[in-house]
Amino acid sequence: MKTVAVLHAAQLVTLAGPQRPRIGGELSEPAVIRDGGMLVRDGAIVAVGESDEIERQTPTDAQVVDAGGRIVLPGFIDAHTHPVFAGNRVDEFELRSRGASYEEIAASGGGIRSTVRKTRAATEAELRQQALKHARWFLQCGTTTIEAKSGYGLSVNDELKMLRVMRDIGMQTPLELVPTFLGPHAIPEEHANSPAKYVEIVVNEMLPAVAGERLAEYSDIFCERGYFDVDTSRKILTEAKRHGLRLRMHVDQLTNSGGAALAAELGAITADHLEQTEADGIAAMQKANVQPVLLPGSVYALGKTRYPRARDMIDAGLAVVLATDFNPGSSPTLSMPMILSFAATQMKMSLSEGVTAATINAAYSLGRGNKIGSLEPGKLANFSIFNCGDYRELAYFFGMPQTHAVYVRGECAWPL
Ligand code: NIG
Ligand code: FE
Repeated sequence: MKTVAVLHAAQLVTLAGPQRPRIGGELSEPAVIRDGGMLVRDGAIVAVGESDEIERQTPTDAQVVDAGGRIVLPGFIDAHTHPVFAGNRVDEFELRSRGASYEEIAASGGGIRSTVRKTRAATEAELRQQALKHARWFLQCGTTTIEAKSGYGLSVNDELKMLRVMRDIGMQTPLELVPTFLGPHAIPEEHANSPAKYVEIVVNEMLPAVAGERLAEYSDIFCERGYFDVDTSRKILTEAKRHGLRLRMHVDQLTNSGGAALAAELGAITADHLEQTEADGIAAMQKANVQPVLLPGSVYALGKTRYPRARDMIDAGLAVVLATDFNPGSSPTLSMPMILSFAATQMKMSLSEGVTAATINAAYSLGRGNKIGSLEPGKLANFSIFNCGDYRELAYFFGMPQTHAVYVRGECAWPL
């Protein structure tokens, strides 16, 4: 039996609270213990409290992690990422810096399809190599669980290839991956003139294969003009549900197509992006208990200015989640602290709301609220130590790495 004692955290940000996602004013109560400590046994938290009190309970043979006046937080939970892909799209970034838009670049053959070409050409081993690098970056930023989407294969074999890579990364690294099938991410080039044919492949071939091999927990779609409209999205996701997959959806990112309302109608767990969502969409999500996943990194990196209406969503009682949307096109960041900065400056979410949205609320959106997302007895000892004395500095000193160490199940996962 291995015991670890974490002592002398200037702030132990526990996120302790009710056993459900936080809403309204609860988002502003991250439950901070000053000069905090924590006792961990066999990878699980057994006690949390003031450092002196924890020290008294610490057995003599315990490993001591001295936080030394730094802050300790639950590992971030990034509930929306696209971490498996080949190559990158730095050339498109340069084009956008010269004035081109994401939509124009996609229309001229770039965008998602360009990553699909490279991902199809890559071997499983090559994809794994690149995804391993991304997994290390996530850990380095203090993230210990990610939701991971496929969607750059767009053929049965290439989608399965991506999902297998995710499974391998989850087994080979301390990072926990929650897999989501995103076959309906775009219409692949070979079906450009027959999109209905691709929808048939998704429904009749991909969904049965993915569900049959238990390679995904969730099913997602890019519900957007020029990609999958509301009726097609309804059809595909109804089939996904029949296969036992729960739903997450990319909606209302570039245009308001009524995606948030569709997420509510289908009983999706989350509706993600929501940059264009108005009051009616927010009300529909509230009624159906859909969690909004806000991705300000993608608005920023695309050089756009319309961020989702986070304040209205919090006021409406929605259990808001923040995530990076890490992907090679619209959001090449894996840094949750950077997202907390955008949330504060662009969406007027306080730092306490941001931290809650990036930990406990994200955990509930992934069906793991009973295991991760807060530092409470009974939960996994997934936590990060940052080089500051006040958790708000994580977003205040933006764009600068402040990670000191990251632990998963009580074991150091970064630096190794
Ligand atoms: O969440 N919007 C759709 N999917 C991604 C972008 C994917 C890409 O550009 O490669 C997103 O922003
Ligand atoms: Fe995305």
